[in-house]
Amino acid sequence: MMEQIRILIVDDEAVIRDGLKRILNGERFMVETCASGFRAIELLNEREFDLIVTDLKMPGMNGIEVLKAVATLQPGVPVIMITGYATVETAVDAMKNGAVDYITKPFAPEQFLEKVEHALEQRHVSMDELILKKEIASRHGFHRFVGESKEMLKVYHRIMQVAATNSTVLITGESGTGKELVAHAIHENSPRHGQPFVAVDCSSLAENLLESELFGHVKGSFTGAMQTKVGLFKVADGGTLFLDEVSNISLSTQAKLLRTLQERQITPIGGTQPQQINIHLVAASNRNLKTMVSEGTFREDLFFRLNIIPIELPPLRERKGDIPLLISYFLKKFTAEIGKAIRAVTPEALAFLEGYSYPGNVRELENIIERSVVLAESDSIRKEDLELSEYANNSNGAVPGGYIPATALELKEMKRHIRDHAVDSLEKAFLISALERNSWNVTRAAEETGILRPNFQSMMKKLGISIRDQH
Ligand SMILES: Nc1ncnc2c1ncn2[C@@H]1O[C@H](COP(=O)(O)OP(=O)(O)OP(=O)(O)O)[C@@H](O)[C@H]1O
Ligand SMILES: [Mg+2]
Repeated sequence: MMEQIRILIVDDEAVIRDGLKRILNGERFMVETCASGFRAIELLNEREFDLIVTDLKMPGMNGIEVLKAVATLQPGVPVIMITGYATVETAVDAMKNGAVDYITKPFAPEQFLEKVEHALEQRHVSMDELILKKEIASRHGFHRFVGESKEMLKVYHRIMQVAATNSTVLITGESGTGKELVAHAIHENSPRHGQPFVAVDCSSLAENLLESELFGHVKGSFTGAMQTKVGLFKVADGGTLFLDEVSNISLSTQAKLLRTLQERQITPIGGTQPQQINIHLVAASNRNLKTMVSEGTFREDLFFRLNIIPIELPPLRERKGDIPLLISYFLKKFTAEIGKAIRAVTPEALAFLEGYSYPGNVRELENIIERSVVLAESDSIRKEDLELSEYANNSNGAVPGGYIPATALELKEMKRHIRDHAVDSLEKAFLISALERNSWNVTRAAEETGILRPNFQSMMKKLGISIRDQH
């Protein structure tokens, strides 16, 4: 006999409860119903379910609260949210809180059954959760991530969840928080991992180039189109397409992208035949797209379509507990690369590193460790090895850490280092003052200084300046 699937329906309206129960009527499902969130929690405490279907708006305790209770009482059990009115926001909110799916009233029975089947498939993710726990315990991280703070655990869990689905993902977070790592981890944990992973940096290409990169073009469709070009959407077919820095896409390309996502097909520039595409789209942005929507520089409909599953990466300063793990990881990495036997960081240096705010996040910490491994002259990294900017600004000819290079190679290495650092400080001051003069509007700051906007942005990125640094 096939095992019965236990479904709990939570709705304050009897008509809906009975209606849903009737739709699910059959041997496969064992359906229980209740009229309030409070009763649902009692039932969740009493026995296990395979799926929860809950109304969003209920007196006393609403659907989101039920959802949260499921996450703690029966983690991994999928929840379908029923919403009374079709606002994308409430649906997005439900998804953000962990709902697997949502359905808007009124709906057809087939539509509901389809969602139920789909949600039940998602149950298997909880099996992955066990694997995830094991991996984190043994490696103090996940995939290529280091960190076991609760903020990062949430991120890892989301990665596993979305890797199993085809839903569009939007990764947000400050510069250097690991957005690109997330995109790779999603692909490599997904059934698509044997297929291509294609990354497009939307900030590095001019508007028309970006379009022909993404959608492709037909030979002769514009001056310079000497050859037919296959678009990256097509190159990524069957795999994952990662649109990095998606905030840089112009409004007209945004419209084209939206259509592509809705229709799941592309038409190359100058072409007539639409081509079907099968990709998992993952987008990332270090700018706040919601703000851009309100400023009118990013399409709201595209934002909602991208933001189906949001993954927000916490800045490093908000998960300081991970700093020691990251330090020892990067220390191992760079001592092996550079070939120096440095095994520790002095308590004083550690305290400094733990107290620092890391505007450039993990990337900045990584750079600091790399730099200090190069400079350290004992078998541990001392605080003096970290405070590089002070030496670089020192005009009286002081030597970093009082250390005088003993070989030509060391001299060269230190010279390069001090020079880089002095140039970095100058560039940083230059960028910040331009940004401040222009109320942190990157476009205007770039214009005023005579630097192309993408170049201005990559300078900011390199130096770990983010729009959120503004005071
Ligand atoms: N949790 C982590 N563990 C180990 N390494 C990490 C972690 N997060 C980020 N890194 C490393 O930090 C660097 C920056 O990460 P990544 O390029 O993914 O950031 P990003 O969010 O895409 O930044 P940007 O917005 O500037 O493009 C990379 O070298 C990456 O390997
Ligand atoms: Mg990136």
